[in-house]
Amino acid sequence: MPSPIGLLAELTHRCPLGCPYCSNPLELVRAGGELDTKTWTRVLQEAADLGVLHVHLSGGEPLVRTDLAEIVNAAHIAGLYTNLITSAVGLTPQRLSELKGAGLDHVQISIQGVEPARADAIAHFKGGMKMKREAARLVVHEGLALTINAVMHRENIADLPQIIDLAQEWGAGRLEVAHVQYHGWALANRASLMPSREDFERAASVVDEAKTRLSGDLVIDHVIPDYYAERPKACMGGWGRQVIVIAPDGRALPCHAAASLPEMIFANVRSRSLSDIWREDDAFAKFRGTEWMPKPCRGCDRAEIDWGGCRCQAFALIGNAAATDPVCTLSPDHAIISAAIAKDEAAPSAPYRFRRIGG
Ligand code: SF4
Ligand code: FES
Repeated sequence: MPSPIGLLAELTHRCPLGCPYCSNPLELVRAGGELDTKTWTRVLQEAADLGVLHVHLSGGEPLVRTDLAEIVNAAHIAGLYTNLITSAVGLTPQRLSELKGAGLDHVQISIQGVEPARADAIAHFKGGMKMKREAARLVVHEGLALTINAVMHRENIADLPQIIDLAQEWGAGRLEVAHVQYHGWALANRASLMPSREDFERAASVVDEAKTRLSGDLVIDHVIPDYYAERPKACMGGWGRQVIVIAPDGRALPCHAAASLPEMIFANVRSRSLSDIWREDDAFAKFRGTEWMPKPCRGCDRAEIDWGGCRCQAFALIGNAAATDPVCTLSPDHAIISAAIAKDEAAPSAPYRFRRIGG
């Protein structure tokens, strides 16, 4: 039984932005259904006791929670490294100073592009880019570690060189270049988001060149798009192996999209301890390890590297969470990916479908 090393604490699904590639589930938790401060405090201590080293405070937008500093402080007291994943909308000087005082270690700010009007249009939030720039300045000024997260897709992929420059200019120590993964709401906008293979390959070269040129100054992580890979990623490091996700309503999930799997029932931290869920819960055990695997995963030399890929993607695309991720070219269902690429990379960009909750 491995110990989890990370906790993804989805504090809320509320968010002022409306990004068309949002990977949150289609059915969002309302404010009234969110865990309270006391429960988060207990869960964070249970996570530390279980061996978790770092907590990612995410959403939605965690800053909409007025008790965020209390939650950060609970994580800090439990000995966890704290990372705030934010759009930066609402990260005022006062708020940041309060969070730093509570023990915040690291801030990750997402950007949608470089040119403000275009970036704001993608985020569906006017003035957002200006707020992000100012928030990044404050984070660096406060001496906190800063990561910039740039989600790449058809509309901004050609701006990648400028995005890398911007991360440097803003003083980030790390840049995450993350191509859209088509989960949740992103799947509904796939035809407008998918870049061509040529554009993706050009972006990969830009990242490779920048990694060498900026070595020692800026760490660049490149999350490549599943659809253009030959083999899938180990989603969340493998089901039930490294990470626990807590949804805003307290459901403990092996990955952030697991709630989309219709036949699974997930335990809730309101009524069970995290340790009990991690060790005993059927949902965590279901796709842990290699026993559950069908062919061609069973016996494959990558079975303990990618753990069969993503269960949620297998369900979303072929209706079977226990199948090999169709992204893998060895999957008998891989044709569905080739067909989607052929159809969507050439599709004209339709207006995005936006969504919003509580913002
Ligand atoms: Fe990974 Fe399964 Fe493909 Fe092997 S067959 S590379 S284990 S997804
Ligand atoms: Fe659920 Fe990949 S998102 S296993």
